[in-house]
Amino acid sequence: MSGIGSRRGFVSLVGAGPGDPELLTRRAAARLAGADVVLYDALVDLAVLDLAPRAQRIFVGKRAGRPAVRQEFIHRLMIRAARRGCAVVRLKGGDPFVFGRGGEEALALTGAGVPFEIVPGISSAIAAPELAGIPVTHRGVSTGFVVVSGHAEAAYRGILENLAPQSCTVVVLMGIGGITDVAALLVARGWGLLTPAAVIFGAGTAAADVWTMTLGELQRGIESSDSTLPGTVVIGDVVRLRAAIAFDAADCEAAAR
Ligand SMILES: C[S@@+](CC[C@H](N)C(=O)[O-])C[C@H]1O[C@@H](n2cnc3c(N)ncnc32)[C@H](O)[C@@H]1O
Repeated sequence: MSGIGSRRGFVSLVGAGPGDPELLTRRAAARLAGADVVLYDALVDLAVLDLAPRAQRIFVGKRAGRPAVRQEFIHRLMIRAARRGCAVVRLKGGDPFVFGRGGEEALALTGAGVPFEIVPGISSAIAAPELAGIPVTHRGVSTGFVVVSGHAEAAYRGILENLAPQSCTVVVLMGIGGITDVAALLVARGWGLLTPAAVIFGAGTAAADVWTMTLGELQRGIESSDSTLPGTVVIGDVVRLRAAIAFDAADCEAAAR
């Protein structure tokens, strides 16, 4: 960190993608290589942090059983480090602007007059289904998709109750615990009980697991054997394509090496 005091600090709000460090953008890797400080979330794969060998690493995510670090505290850390002349990377899982509070952090930096950039990442909303062989849109099957947060009814009700049955693909993030209510709402809205659904746990990691089922089954709830793995739920006819798009992400990766 020598000479930091004389430099102008800068913050990069960086998306780390869904897990696999190979799914980082080149710009994300470059910013990590040059970082003095990395503030990272719980869903960031630790292998990604190895790309920042010089940096002081500060965990600011939620950890089971512990209260989350307050958002304002994260803002203060970023601003203070940048004002000290540090190259700061604020590293988030997936994309920083998709349920990542990246917008709030960008506003805080703007308000403080700290120069910053935004480095998009691959959101799990698309990558998790994709790595499971499920396209979120497909000609003749689904011409659009909506992404909702399933953590609270207020976050999705207004969106899902206005969707005509089977009109698009529904992707639910942060929804494993509340998936019964999400599924029940769609069924009440007229979506068929046999609508296919998939749950993708830990996409882009060695522990990745994909479960397929029907909306009726989803309505009865799901329980992962590993509650630490994040899960993304996909509902819609595109899930059927998984059987035809027969590929195994891990095999393909090995073959490409
Ligand atoms: C707070 S949101 C952040 C989303 C992130 N900004 C993105 O664009 O992917 C966290 C949710 O993303 C989903 N998620 C993140 N990483 C995932 C992964 N590797 N596999 C499946 N779902 C994932 C889960 O639904 C998780 O609850």
